[in-house]
Amino acid sequence: MQDFNKSDKALDFEKGCVIDFDLKTGLSSVVDTGKRYLSQMKGMFYEDAAYRAMLGKKDELVYEFHGLKLPETSGDLAFGCSIVYPGKVGDEYFMTKGHFHTIMETAEVYYCLQGKGYMLLENPEGDWRALALEAGKAVYVPKRYAHRSINVSPDEQLITFFVFRADAGHDYGSIETKGYRKLMVERDGQPAVIDNPKWK
Ligand code: NI
Repeated sequence: MQDFNKSDKALDFEKGCVIDFDLKTGLSSVVDTGKRYLSQMKGMFYEDAAYRAMLGKKDELVYEFHGLKLPETSGDLAFGCSIVYPGKVGDEYFMTKGHFHTIMETAEVYYCLQGKGYMLLENPEGDWRALALEAGKAVYVPKRYAHRSINVSPDEQLITFFVFRADAGHDYGSIETKGYRKLMVERDGQPAVIDNPKWK
């Protein structure tokens, strides 16, 4: 179908635009993704020896996501897809680093397009939950909760579409230094939540 009175710019956040995101891959023909390789995830997985052994073999792509160059105002909405690849470091599933928003009082929505996984939520006071995601389910990440997507499928990508207030900002540092209180690992072939032995 054709657009009518479309802006000349492909990404026009002032006048409106349409962007494609493939339902199977999460990728777009007009915006690139940022990529996180295993080598960029140092210290994020709890089994350091398993991490080093795996990295010694191959620097695998763990996840990628869109970072659209939107105006970072409170009235704009940032959005894109997050794609977490299947895999494990030891018995811990591939996941995103996870982050708080710099403006803590900002929420986010993730709508799952494909795959099987969890959104792990945790606030500074220690309240947490792990909410199951599969195609067709949307998770609401409330204000003040760090969020991390975890792919528990052995062979499928976990693809989610996210939307949040464009000026919210990302605080990765808190998770990188303290870690998450809870982790998701495979136990007897099933996802399980454990306490993070490395949590500070
Ligand atoms: Ni976020």
